[in-house]
This record gives sequence, structure tokens and C-alpha cells, in this order.
Amino acid sequence: MADRETWATRLGFILASVGSAVGLGNIWRFPYQTAEFGGAAFLVVYLIAVLIIGLPAILAEFVIGRRAGLSAIDAFDELGFPGWRAVGALGVFAGFWTLSYYSVVGGWVFRYIIGSLTGAYLSAPGEYFGAVSAGPEAIAFHAVFMAVTVGIVAFGIRGGIERATRVMVPSIVVLLVGLAVYAFTLPGSGAGYEYFLQPDFSVIAANYQAVIPAAVGQALFSLSVGFSVMITYASYIGDDEDMFVDSGAIAVTNTFVGIAAGLVVFPLLAVQGGNYGSAGPGAIFVSVPTALSEVPFGAAVGFVFFLIVAVAALSSAISLLEVVVSHLVDTYGFERKRTTLLLGSAIFLLGVPSARDTAWLTWFDNIGVNLLVPATVLLVVFFVGWVLAGDAVEEIQAGTETFESLGPVWLWSVRTLVLLAVLGTLALSVFELTGAPL
Ligand code: PHE
Repeated sequence: MADRETWATRLGFILASVGSAVGLGNIWRFPYQTAEFGGAAFLVVYLIAVLIIGLPAILAEFVIGRRAGLSAIDAFDELGFPGWRAVGALGVFAGFWTLSYYSVVGGWVFRYIIGSLTGAYLSAPGEYFGAVSAGPEAIAFHAVFMAVTVGIVAFGIRGGIERATRVMVPSIVVLLVGLAVYAFTLPGSGAGYEYFLQPDFSVIAANYQAVIPAAVGQALFSLSVGFSVMITYASYIGDDEDMFVDSGAIAVTNTFVGIAAGLVVFPLLAVQGGNYGSAGPGAIFVSVPTALSEVPFGAAVGFVFFLIVAVAALSSAISLLEVVVSHLVDTYGFERKRTTLLLGSAIFLLGVPSARDTAWLTWFDNIGVNLLVPATVLLVVFFVGWVLAGDAVEEIQAGTETFESLGPVWLWSVRTLVLLAVLGTLALSVFELTGAPL
């Protein structure tokens, strides 16, 4: 234990966690889910979900990770509850599962960076997306994305992940804000803001069985909760760390980036005729280039945009891979570099169906976000609230003076409100997926 790595600095930990949270979930998934599930009304449910489920659940994962000081599965043994290892394992599995298609979308992004150099996607964006999103080219770029991810993770948390995210996160924020300002100047963008920011609640009333699980799933996915990522990352931090402040910083930054992405994408969609609902997973890849083809310096703006997305995607992908790797390194003493390479190859193979056909990609995404993740979060929340209970409060109070009194309040909400909310979401998802009427 004594020679286990820790983060070089506290900021390093926060940036790496933010780097994990901020990714394709914010920039690719959030806008298209928002478009699919009713615009601003979805945004409202999403924000509520971040606040009442996401934040307390991040804290629950932090508590497990820091108290145990071990990666996600062994953490449960260390805490004295070996029977709960399965919960950590489920999260690790969710990470393995998710990275397989995440990397495919990451590959699309790499393809679009290259496409920007020649402006290739500007003349016929729909056809371009169709050609590169599935098939041999998609498989090749999926391989490249996985290879880069493996390369970073192989160097370990301090040399690889921490150093990378230190540069990544600030540049993402700066560049997205720049693009949002650019989008604001386009004529006809107003309708986009209206769709994104003026809620029409009848949308929720009419379709709550689908909207609520989608919004909660998006909130968890976007915050990287339910994948044992935050357990693993927090296992590298010290007792003097204020986890309330950290989780707040992560949630605020993550939400900010998602909204900033919306403020780029929706005005662009509006410029293009406002076909929000039918956008699907190709949303940013078709609509953004279409809009860009009508404005000056479109390819240059596209280059910057996809570069940001690639950076954000990588800093999330490395966290997904790190969880699986650190489990094998910690538990079995495997050699890090070789383990990383082997796992990366396995995940690549699992992603091949998604790279051949986007229908598989949405299927993997659906199972992961709507089933695996809420199930894991439900168990994590139950474990922390009812099994660790008092110990959890003690753990969360260590390192904070300002928020000490919040400890019991947090525990109470985890045991009741958060637990019920996740349970309800999962039930809706199951009914939704099995087609049972509710
Ligand atoms: N939160 C990341 C995103 O929004 C995805 C992710 C999920 C990363 C789970 C790590 C763990 O893109």
C-alpha cells in the first residue's frame, strides 16, 4: 500500500475528475438527447437530476474510494464488506461496456478533425456522416482512438492522466465559450435559444416514462457516476480533501460545459432550419457542419470544434480505461503497460459491432446508460446509505470544516430521497425497455 501512487496535487485530482466528467456526454450526447426529449423541459429535469441524484451519488463514490484507498472492487473488501464486491464489479463492467462504443464516437471525432483540414464534410454533411460513421473507416478510427487512450493510461496516473487533463480541461472551456459567442452572432440563431432554454412542460407530462430515465441517465453518464470511476479516482486522495467542494466543482464545471455545448449546437441547428428532434447520434456531426458550410471560415471553426471534442473525449476515455486497469494492477499485480494494451484490444473488439452499424451503438448506449448505470448507482447509494451509514458520515466530514454539518443531511438524503429517485428511474427504464405499460 505504501508505494501506491497519489495525485501530485489537489487541483490535479479535481481536473482529472472534471476531465472524466466532461466528454462526449456533454458535447455529443447531451445536445442530441435534449433535442430528442423535448428541449428545455429535458434540460430542467436533467438539472434536477444532477442536483438530487448526481451530486449525492458522486459523494457516495468518493466516500467508498477514499475510505478504502483501493480500486473499485477491492475497496469493498477493504471496508469489510466482501459480499459487496459485485457492486464495484458492476461499475467496472459498465466502464468496459461503455468505452467500447465511446471509442467509436471518439473515432468519428478524429475523422472529423482530419475532414476539417480539407473541408471534406462541408459540401454534403449528411452523406459524409453516413460514409464515415459506420464501416471500415469507422473501425479504423475506433482503433486509433483506442490506441491513443491506451497510450495515455499506460503511463500511469501522474505521468499520463494528470498531466494530460491539466492542459485539456482549461482549453475545452475556453474554446467552447469562444464558439458559443461565435454561434450567437449568426443570423437566425434565436429560435435555437428558445428551444433550448424555454421549457414546455407539457412535453414531460406527455412522455415522462421516457423523459425522466433519459434525463437521469444522462446526468449520471455525464458526471461519470455509476462506473466506479469516482471510487477509483478518490482512492488516490488524502483525508484533508474537502469532498463537498470537490464534487461541487466537478458538477458545476460539467454542467457548464454541457450548457455551453447546447449554446453552440442549438443556435447552429436553428440556423439550419431547426430540425431538432430527428437529429439522433449524428446530431453534432451533421448539423454543425451543415451550419458551418453556410458561414465564413466554416472549416476552421469546425477544426477547433472537433479538436475540443476530441480532447474532452480522450480525458473521459482514459478514466474509463483506468478503472479497469487499476483493478487488475491492484488486485493481481499485473504489469500496467501490458494490461492496458490487452484490455484496450478487448474493448476495441467489443466496439467493432458499434463501428459497423450505428444501430448497435445506440443499443450499447441504451443498455449501459438506462440499465447498467442506474442499477450500479442504486446499489452504491444503498451500500453507502444503509451499510456504511455512520462511517460514511465520518468519512465525508474528514477534510471539511465548512460543510461538516452537511454530513448527516447528505446521509439522510442518500438513504431516502436519492435511493427512491434512482429506484423510480430504474423502474421506469425497465418498463420502458420491456414494453410493460405504466
Ligand atoms: N462522463 C463522460 C462524458 O460525459 C463519460 C464517462 C462516463 C466517462 C463514465 C467516464 C465514466 O463523456
